[in-house]
Amino acid sequence: MGLPAHFESASGAVHRCRNGVVDALRPGCQGWVMSQDPAAVEGVGATALGAAMMRAQESSRSDRLFDDPYAASFVAAAPPPFEDVPDAGDGELAALEAAFRAAMVVRTCFFDEYLVSAVSSGCRQVVLLAAGLDTRAFRLAWPQGTRLFELDLPEVFTFKEAVLSRHGADPGCERTIVAVDLRHEWPSTLREAGFDPTVPTAWTAEGLLAYLTHEEAARLLTDVGELSAAGSQLAFEQSSFASDSVLDDARNLQAMEQVSSMWKGGLNADAAAWLEPRGWEVHALERSEVAAKLGRHMPGESAGGFLTATRDASSGRTAP
Ligand SMILES: C[S@@+](CC[C@H](N)C(=O)[O-])C[C@H]1O[C@@H](n2cnc3c(N)ncnc32)[C@H](O)[C@@H]1O
Repeated sequence: MGLPAHFESASGAVHRCRNGVVDALRPGCQGWVMSQDPAAVEGVGATALGAAMMRAQESSRSDRLFDDPYAASFVAAAPPPFEDVPDAGDGELAALEAAFRAAMVVRTCFFDEYLVSAVSSGCRQVVLLAAGLDTRAFRLAWPQGTRLFELDLPEVFTFKEAVLSRHGADPGCERTIVAVDLRHEWPSTLREAGFDPTVPTAWTAEGLLAYLTHEEAARLLTDVGELSAAGSQLAFEQSSFASDSVLDDARNLQAMEQVSSMWKGGLNADAAAWLEPRGWEVHALERSEVAAKLGRHMPGESAGGFLTATRDASSGRTAP
């Protein structure tokens, strides 16, 4: 996996990324300008564009539940992520798209609230695993001193940073991007980027685990545990992956093959039962419950929901 492209600062100096780490858009900094046009995001990275597309649609509604100011710009800057997917029309594919869109909106609100609550309860470090084209660093209100790390594949950041830079995006926290493949060794790169494992951290794995095999997901969550001080928090989406009817429908639809072929099953276990013996106190929420609180209806039958976990005092890492 290559590193992101070279970056050119506003002063014209070329900055290479060391070990996949780029200091990105810290408050008050000039930002970075790509030395060439951003390449389109392809493969699993393209799923980030699909998520941005749905956030752009929600942001344009008069009754929107959130406003992502850069989502439409990401969409405008790239060709459609999955070219072979036909126009949804009003058939089965349209129903599926509506279900995914509703789930994505609920998910965005859930993770927004989770992060706001985690930092207000004392986490001053935030790690977005598979951040994709997430713009929470820019759109949420962060307490002073919050350090936020975004992790994703290099090609996603090549595209993302170019678009953000063009729009003069200015984060409300200390933002650092870390280009890594989360299937391989990533904790040392995160630590080199300035992550401190003795500080309580709010972790998210939003829209990621499904793209990993059980072994990859378990390894990733084990690493997260090892990097988590007592009081750290973790949130991810959980679906009974084999039985969630929306995902099953998507798998059976030829038009969705490009996307569904990338799903590897994720943890594919009772996530709470997996986490609890590994030092996490777990709380689960149904997606439909979160949707109802937001005043939105989930179309069709959708199982699954979200899981938040807090690192036990006895398991958490402490300062040496
Ligand atoms: C569906 S998107 C979700 C992005 C973002 N969390 C959101 O909700 O908008 C999935 C993301 O996972 C990232 N991803 C998948 N496999 C990865 C891996 N092995 N290492 C790093 N990132 C990965 C993709 O690049 C993509 O950005």
